[in-house]
Amino acid sequence: MRPPAIGLDFGTTNSSIALASDAGTTLVRFDAGTPSFRSLLYLEQHQTNGRSTTEAFTGPAAINQYLQRHAAQIERPGRLIQSLKSYLAVRSLNGTEVFGRRYTLEDLISRILADLRDEATAVLGTEVTRAVVGRPVHFVSSETAADDAFALDRLSAALRSAGFTDVEFLPEPVAAAYTYEATLDHDEVVLIGDFGGGTSDFTLIRVGPGARQMSSSERILGTAGVGLAGDALDAKLIRHLVAPALGSSASVISFGKPLPAVPAWIYANLERWHYLSFLRTRNVEQILATARLRAASQPAIERQIDALITLVDEDLGYALHQAVQQTKVALSSADNSEFRFRDSGVNLRSTVLRADFEGWIAPELAAIRHAIDTLLKATGTAQPEVDHVFLTGGTSFVPAVRRIFEERFPSARVVLGEAFTSVAQGLGLYARDSCLAPVKRPARG
Ligand SMILES: Nc1ncnc2c1ncn2[C@@H]1O[C@H](COP(=O)(O)OP(=O)(O)OP(=O)(O)O)[C@@H](O)[C@H]1O
Ligand SMILES: [Mg+2]
Repeated sequence: MRPPAIGLDFGTTNSSIALASDAGTTLVRFDAGTPSFRSLLYLEQHQTNGRSTTEAFTGPAAINQYLQRHAAQIERPGRLIQSLKSYLAVRSLNGTEVFGRRYTLEDLISRILADLRDEATAVLGTEVTRAVVGRPVHFVSSETAADDAFALDRLSAALRSAGFTDVEFLPEPVAAAYTYEATLDHDEVVLIGDFGGGTSDFTLIRVGPGARQMSSSERILGTAGVGLAGDALDAKLIRHLVAPALGSSASVISFGKPLPAVPAWIYANLERWHYLSFLRTRNVEQILATARLRAASQPAIERQIDALITLVDEDLGYALHQAVQQTKVALSSADNSEFRFRDSGVNLRSTVLRADFEGWIAPELAAIRHAIDTLLKATGTAQPEVDHVFLTGGTSFVPAVRRIFEERFPSARVVLGEAFTSVAQGLGLYARDSCLAPVKRPARG
């Protein structure tokens, strides 16, 4: 008998695995029983007998190892890498050097995928090699269909090198639709919105017992997507909340003219927390040392630059990002929240109003609105024809994101799915049902 095919949602932030049988869907549980596996990689260098080797940790083990090393104040402990999925369509990024060794993007992603496959194999008790894998409608930074195909080829290569021999891709919002469909006893037209860490994806699709008899092209009225989601919202919090406390709006007088105390590109790197470690270069060290000297007569600015120097030197990107995310999450259920960051002598504290946050993310909200309007237009669907709106993904908790749907679809009920597992469950259901098909498409590429 062929081994079962799993549903694999390799997310920008969180990954999940589901296996569906006639009895229902089972989610693979990871550390501490959670069905979410952080899509993180931590590489650490060891010296044994004069030889240096690199050890890789993924998911919860990556976080634990990083935090332990950080707490023990081990100098330059290792590299923590996140949001790798967001680089799949970036042609200029084919890899990175870690501890003197070059890794392709596929190598790095495949380390995470291989551990996910091992976890599934351990739970199922039989080697897992077949998977239905989710893909965003458009990858982050993709501008053309060729960019998406390029990203998909790289994802296929990473899956193959992780030991998956038989792979089929399904758009993530279509997978979420199958999860919603499993709850229905009648047919509907549903708009699915999946808001993750990297991308926001949509489909307008017919679901229900009758729709299941139709071909995919008859059922799926259309798909759409934008390459921004939770990570882009975090970047806005860093820009408006964190960077000013680190001197981004401070100026110093140089040759009689006001100049930014620190060049803006340094703060742009701060917005993607995993870029913070890229700032640990001699050049940045010199720029910051000069900025500090220039600000010597302005103690408040000097303190801000000192805090920035510590963040860079101590590689506090992960801790900073955790603090920013906590504030963002708190703003999903309160009108204001305290931003608090305290580490290695850096002490940042301020109150954020949800209304201000919503102002900062207005361009992202407008891009989401535009994608939905384009989808409705392209499919020739009038708003009242949509029976339900089904929202999933961690960023669907943001009230301003939900409000878009409540305003656009006043006659449709908004249903909230299991934010972190709807996509994996739908992939699992599709894997179960498509196993009945006589021919399976092999992995691309
Ligand atoms: N309560 C909350 N309020 C706001 N944002 C949240 C909340 N909970 C989680 N998030 C955000 O949701 C995002 C992760 O969501 P999810 O796990 O669905 O993404 P993903 O599947 O990994 O990404 P993608 O689908 O884009 O590849 C993160 O940006 C996280 O900060
Ligand atoms: Mg997702």
